[in-house]
Amino acid sequence: MTHRTPTLAQFITEKEHALAVATGEFASLMSAIALSTKLISREVNKAGLVDILGLTGDRNIQGEQVQKLDLFANDTLVRTLARSGAVCIMGSEEVADFIPVAPPHTCGRYVVVFDPLDGSSNIDVGAPIGTIFAIYRRRSSDGPGQATDLLRPGREQVAAGYVIYGSSTIFVYSTGEGVHAFTLDPSLGEFLLTDEGLRIPEQARIYSINDANAPWWPPAVSHWVDGMRHGAGKGRYTARYIGSLVADFHRNLLRGGVFAYPADTRDPALPDGKLRLLYEAAPLAFLARGAGGHASDGYRDILDIVPDSLHQRTALFIGNREEVEAAVACYGQETGRGSSGGS
Ligand code: AHG
Ligand code: MN
Ligand code: MN
Repeated sequence: MTHRTPTLAQFITEKEHALAVATGEFASLMSAIALSTKLISREVNKAGLVDILGLTGDRNIQGEQVQKLDLFANDTLVRTLARSGAVCIMGSEEVADFIPVAPPHTCGRYVVVFDPLDGSSNIDVGAPIGTIFAIYRRRSSDGPGQATDLLRPGREQVAAGYVIYGSSTIFVYSTGEGVHAFTLDPSLGEFLLTDEGLRIPEQARIYSINDANAPWWPPAVSHWVDGMRHGAGKGRYTARYIGSLVADFHRNLLRGGVFAYPADTRDPALPDGKLRLLYEAAPLAFLARGAGGHASDGYRDILDIVPDSLHQRTALFIGNREEVEAAVACYGQETGRGSSGGS
């Protein structure tokens, strides 16, 4: 790494100038997310050393047990983003309702939705976990942010990204113009550019799905997975499933692969799948598209789905375009419903 390597802040400032939108507000917003994730990364790294592991004893809006790190990550993001002056309303996996930015904080032009800590089941075992975020420009003209500023199709995102807390801490984002990755240099406390314009490799070689749910999959998913297992003319696949969406997505983005969490019949309380549209599927779909990939719920382009509620669930197939389209084709054959090639 040389002094010529831009930091995340420098890179964003340069890009903003290039786009002639240099009000500085977007840069403040990204800097608030970067600061939050550095604080989360520090806490994750000392997870075994201080009293930050384990459960809080509470359950979140989805009925899931809340871990102390979930809460730390949520509070850090909410507080830092409110202070940035760039945000008017937020939505978080860990908070039931919308989070408007109220005085004394200034209400900004952006809206942020996030999964503060993705892959909570991996916190206590040293496996990679992450933060996922989606950014929209507010729709309402002034006053406090409204629910309608947040309940938007993924296609309207102005930026999306994630941070992985793994063997290193990596910040990945896109404003639609390429997907860029920055690695945290702990000695500097700065994210430094490590990959510009990431493209998902042409051919999928990896599939990532929780195979234990196979007995409850719809036939379309079994057909699709069989197609990869037996490889018919497609070459050899291997399976990788970490159970942290963000880490599974990141690996597939770099290596070529497809991740799926279909709707299944295992849990009647989750008829639409497990993952959340606004702060898991939509931001990753935006990044997949930016890297030449695709995301679908089996029928529709994820980026076209208009949410009804903050914590709405969706089925998700995401990664190499060709492979996601193969899944969509299997659904089309099963149901006779139309397929979404999407863009
Ligand atoms: P979260 O920790 O934010 O609740 O998300 C967990 C999600 C996602 O990261 C992962 O892909 C999926 O749950 C794994 O689910 P299974 O354990 O059912 O495979
Ligand atoms: Mn998650
Ligand atoms: Mn989470």
